[in-house]
Amino acid sequence: MNKIQKIISKKNKSKIVCLTAYSKNIASTLDKFCDLILVGDSLGSVLYNYNSTREVSLDIMIEHAKSVRMGVQKSLMVVDMPFNTYRTSSEALKNAKKIISKTKCDAVKLEGGKKIIKIVKNLVKNKIPVMGHLGLLPQSQTGKFRFKGKKKLERTKILNDAKLLQDVGAFSIVLECVETSLAKLITNSIKIPTIGIGASSFCDGQVLVTDDLLGLNPTSVRFVKTYTNLSKNIHQAVKNFSNDVRKKNFPKKKHSY
Ligand code: KIV
Repeated sequence: MNKIQKIISKKNKSKIVCLTAYSKNIASTLDKFCDLILVGDSLGSVLYNYNSTREVSLDIMIEHAKSVRMGVQKSLMVVDMPFNTYRTSSEALKNAKKIISKTKCDAVKLEGGKKIIKIVKNLVKNKIPVMGHLGLLPQSQTGKFRFKGKKKLERTKILNDAKLLQDVGAFSIVLECVETSLAKLITNSIKIPTIGIGASSFCDGQVLVTDDLLGLNPTSVRFVKTYTNLSKNIHQAVKNFSNDVRKKNFPKKKHSY
C-alpha cells in the first residue's frame, strides 16, 4: 500500500493527523506523530507577513518544500500550489510537475471545486496525486472572514464540489471553516477522507498551522488550540543567552578550542 492509499484507508477507521511545516527541523519533529505534512501557502502570512496567500510564489513554495523534504520520512508530504499557478490545465500540469520534481513531495493541494475540476482531472490523469481544498479558500477570499455553509445555496455548492473532486480522483479534501453539520454531511457523502480546519470533529482528520499550535504565531481564531507557548520559551532562552554574554558567562572553556 503506498502513502496515498494509506491515507485513504484510514477513513472510518482512525483519525488522520496533519500539520503544516515550512522547514526541515520542525518537519522532522512532526513526522513521528503525523500522517500528512502540508507545506501550506499559509507561510505567506506566518513567515513573510504578506497580506494574503496570493503573494506567495512558486519559487518560495519550492524552496520551503525542499527543506521540509529533508525532515519527512514517514508522513505523506503535500505541497500547496500557490495562487496563479494553476489557471489552466497546461499551466497546472507544468507547475505541479515542477513542484514534484524539485521537492520530491508526494502530492499537491489546490483550492476550489467546480471551477478547477478539469484542471484536477488532468493532473490526476497525469499521475499527480491531488488534495482538494473547499470551504474558506484563502487564495480567493476577499473581505471579511466568515465560516462557510450558513446559506443553503452555499451548502449545496460545497457538497457538490466535494463530490466532483472525489469523482475526478482527488485523494482527500481539506475543509476549512465549514459549518459542523455540513462538514459531517460531506464526510459521510464521500469515500475519500476530509481533513478539517475549523470544520468540526466530524471530519476524517484534522490539520492546524504548526506555528499557531506552538504559540509562535499570535492568533485568536476560534478553531486554533494553542498547545504551548514557544514564544515565551524562546524569549527566556534568548534572555539567558544575552545575560550570559554580557556577564561573560558564555562561552566557557568547554565551549572553546
Ligand atoms: O496553507 C495552509 O497552511 C493550509 C492549511 C491551513 C490547510 O492550506
